[in-house]
Parts: sequence; structure tokens; C-alpha cells
Amino acid sequence: MSLFAWQENYALQVPRIDDEHKLLFAAGDKLHKAIVTGKAAALLEPLIDELADYGRTHFAHEEEFMVEIRYPRIMAHKGEHQAFTKRVEVFRQAVHAGDRSLALNILQFLKNWLVEHIGTSDAQVREHLQKQPGSGATAVNV
Ligand SMILES: [Fe+2]
Repeated sequence: MSLFAWQENYALQVPRIDDEHKLLFAAGDKLHKAIVTGKAAALLEPLIDELADYGRTHFAHEEEFMVEIRYPRIMAHKGEHQAFTKRVEVFRQAVHAGDRSLALNILQFLKNWLVEHIGTSDAQVREHLQKQPGSGATAVNV
């Protein structure tokens, strides 16, 4: 069974953001499979670059969306995004410097992010959305 299976209860019902979240699950799954099959060393460099790119584009989209819906906890939420970005940059520099020992650390980091950020902080954005008068869960398109 995948460590990184997407579940519908992670969905914010905002298609662009949900699609981007699914990409992160897919990246985690790819890393997990590579570790299990002994192929993680070759994947680390492209994967960590992908995570750095992902953070730049996805967080910009999500933060833009939070402004649009006047999400009250945006500053704390952005702080979590910044922490992700910083951590990924530390990993990225180490991997580019030749460190191939970080696969499990990156895997654990991704797993924690999916549970603690997508499963908790992003879920609070969904709760806020659902409380908006007249906004059916699928009413907002970005
Ligand atoms: Fe987020």
C-alpha cells in the first residue's frame, strides 16, 4: 500500500489547488517506491528540484486564493509555507553538494507535511470556505 495515497477528504474542492496537492502525493509515492527498489540515489536531485519548484508555484497559488477568500489565518499559514521552502532549500543544497543519504529524511519530511499541513492547515482553509454564506463547496474556481 502506498504511504502517500490521495484521499478525497484532503480535497478543498478547489480544482487547481487539489491538483497541485495530488502532485505532491505523487512525488512522495515516487520517492517511496525508489527507496524500496534501491533507486533513490538517482532520483534525489531531480526530486528535490521538483519540490523547490513546486513550493514556489503552489504556495503562490494557495496564498493568492487565501487572499481572495479573506482567510483569517493567512499569516500563520504562510509561515508554514516558508518553513517548507527553507527546509527544502537545505535539502536541495545538501543533495546538490553530493549527499545521497537523505532519501529517508526527505520521505519523512514529506509524510509529515502531508499529514500536518495538507491534512490539518489546508483542511482549515476548507472549513473556512464551507462556512462562507452561499458558497457551495465547489463554488470557487481559481
Ligand atoms: Fe498550504
